Parts: sequence; structure tokens; C-alpha cells
Amino acid sequence: MSHASHSPSATPAPESAPESTTQIVAALSLKGGVGKTSVVLGVAGAAASAGLKVLVIDLDPQANATATLNPESAQFTTSDVLYDGRPGIAADAIVPSSWEGTLDLIASEPALEHRSQSPGTGSELRLRTALDGVASNYDLVLFDCPPSLGELTRNALYAATSALVVTEPTFFAVQGAAQAIEAVQVVSEHGNPELKPAGIVVNRMRNTLEDHREHMADLQKEFGKLVLGGLPDRSAVPQAQGAQIPVQMWKSNGAADISKALGLLLNRLVGKTVVNVTTTTVNLSDSTPRTEPTEASSEKKLKKNKTKKKKASTQEIAKTVDLTNKPESLANLTPTYRFTTSEDK
Ligand SMILES: Nc1ncnc2c1ncn2[C@@H]1O[C@H](COP(=O)(O)OP(=O)(O)OP(=O)(O)O)[C@@H](O)[C@H]1O
Ligand SMILES: [Mg+2]
Repeated sequence: MSHASHSPSATPAPESAPESTTQIVAALSLKGGVGKTSVVLGVAGAAASAGLKVLVIDLDPQANATATLNPESAQFTTSDVLYDGRPGIAADAIVPSSWEGTLDLIASEPALEHRSQSPGTGSELRLRTALDGVASNYDLVLFDCPPSLGELTRNALYAATSALVVTEPTFFAVQGAAQAIEAVQVVSEHGNPELKPAGIVVNRMRNTLEDHREHMADLQKEFGKLVLGGLPDRSAVPQAQGAQIPVQMWKSNGAADISKALGLLLNRLVGKTVVNVTTTTVNLSDSTPRTEPTEASSEKKLKKNKTKKKKASTQEIAKTVDLTNKPESLANLTPTYRFTTSEDK
């Protein structure tokens, strides 16, 4: 199927084109369900609405990103691309997503599972080869990896310029992140020297929960500045996914919270201010988003901390205003990212 009419990849770059500034980011984790797809979709939504040309490549046979980006049709998928493996062949599999802006997709399908076993030497380079001359037509390429460090994730790491490790504030976070970072280091030392760790993002953070703050502190102790910060736990994320729209378009305080954090994450990933978070209206003193706990225990703790929370929110706003526009300061800015204070106890 040809997509010459819509795809930026259909226009060959002029020979004198400046060196590509495309960021190719792989979102990975060893553990399932921590939010890789949500982070990819969230960052993609932020980037596309800011006018960037974005390509999402779904490397997970579960095809969750594909389902949410909802392309009209996808005759060729990542499975076909990896099977074929010819230089530049990925262009043939690009389809427009149903989201606004230039947000293209290479869809996945369950058959991709067959590509999760290494067919032999050099198999980890198939995606990189297939993307030859394709990725540079976009500002941002995002790989949504499956929950393992196997062949599909390895293909992503060999094709990427940076790797974003996604984790949750749980007991296993440090161990899981360490394994993912190690996998990134191995690939950057053996085969893809362009690959850098973009950092670790801690998804589904709830600052009101002491154990979340503790796990965040553990991660910081272990990984220092590699920990970019937290993304808040907001029910707007699954709600927007269910509606197959970017979370940036969902109307709730929770959606505004997470959109802001995702904007900051995007700025960090591309190394410049693409989304100006000062223009995002976030009412952090409104408790609405925080009355959407996912666990009964969170509910209890939330009630207990109700008065204290209001004070905390004011502090969070102050931090937000102070650090806005510094793409490097996601860690300090994200409203979810706050360490234990006497007010939390
Ligand atoms: N910040 C968030 N707040 C609330 N819910 C979230 C958040 N991030 C992810 N979720 C929800 O958690 C579930 C798992 O997220 P997601 O599918 O993104 O994880 P994943 O790491 O891609 O999973 P898998 O490993 O199976 O691919 C989804 O239902 C998603 O909507
Ligand atoms: Mg996923």
C-alpha cells in the first residue's frame, strides 16, 4: 500500500538537507503494565499538538498503541517490516493515525510475536536498516516496546538515539530500572554508540502516598539525575485511551495535570522547549484529580491527608512556576514529584 499522499516519508530529503535532528526514542521496561504505551502516546500527543512531525512505531504484539491511534487501515505492520528488513522498507508501512496533526504510525499485530525470537546474527539491526532514510523525515520517532528486553526491544535500542526507561513507584522499581539501563548500556557499547539513556520516568506517582515517595527516593539514590521525575496517576489516561484521543484533548483537571508533565517530558526528550507549560492551566489546588484513587488504601490515605494536601498543592504550584521553560528541569517541576515533608506525615 502506498501512502505517498500523506506521509512525510514520501518526500525524499533533498541531497543538501542539513544533518537530521530527529530524536528516536525507545520506551522500554522489563515489567509489563508500567505505562510504556501511555508514555509513548502521551508524548506523541504533546509533540503532534505542538506541530512536530511524529512517527510512532508499535513494537508490541499486543498492539495497544495501534488500537489507540486507531489508523483507518494498516496493510503492512512492524511484523512485515522486520520480516522484510530491506533498507527503507519501513516507509511502506507508515499510515496516518486518526489523531490530529502529523502523527503517523507503523502498526503492530499479534503476528509480531513471531519476530520476538532472534533469527540469527545481525537480526537486532533489522529495524534500524528498515528505517534507513525514513526516520529523518520526522522530528520525533517513538518506539513502543513490549514488556521484555528481548529481540523486539533490542531492535528498538539498535535503531534509537535515546532510551526512556519507564517504571512505577513500587518495590521492584530499582531492580527493573537497573536491568533496563544495563540493556541500554550494552547496546550503546556494542553496536549503537548513538544510543543514550534519556532517563527513567516514574509513572503513576501519587505524592500523597508515602511508599511512592520512598520508592522515588530509592530510585534517585540509585540513579541520581537519570531519574527525570514522576508522571501523575490520573484516570484521564485510560479514559482518553478508551476514547482513542490524546490525553491532551481530554477535559478534566487530571488530564491537565498529566498533559503538563508530558509536555515537560517531551521538552526533555527533544532538548528544547516545544511545549510551553506556562500556557497550560493546571489547578493543582483542586482536589478533583486526587479523588480518583486506584486502590482502596489510597482512598483512606487521601482522606487522612486532606487538609495537608492543600498546603502541599500550593508548594507544588510555586515549584511549577519557578521552573517553567527549563526543559532540563522535569524532575523538579513535575507536580507529582515531591519528597516527604512534615506535612505528609
Ligand atoms: N499515569 C497514569 N495514570 C493512570 N493510569 C495509567 C497511567 N499510565 C498508564 N495507566 C494505565 O495503566 C494501564 C497500563 O498502562 P500501559 O498499557 O501504558 O502500560 P505498558 O507498560 O505499555 O503495558 P505493557 O507492558 O502490557 O505493554 C493502562 O490501562 C493505562 O491506561
Ligand atoms: Mg504497552
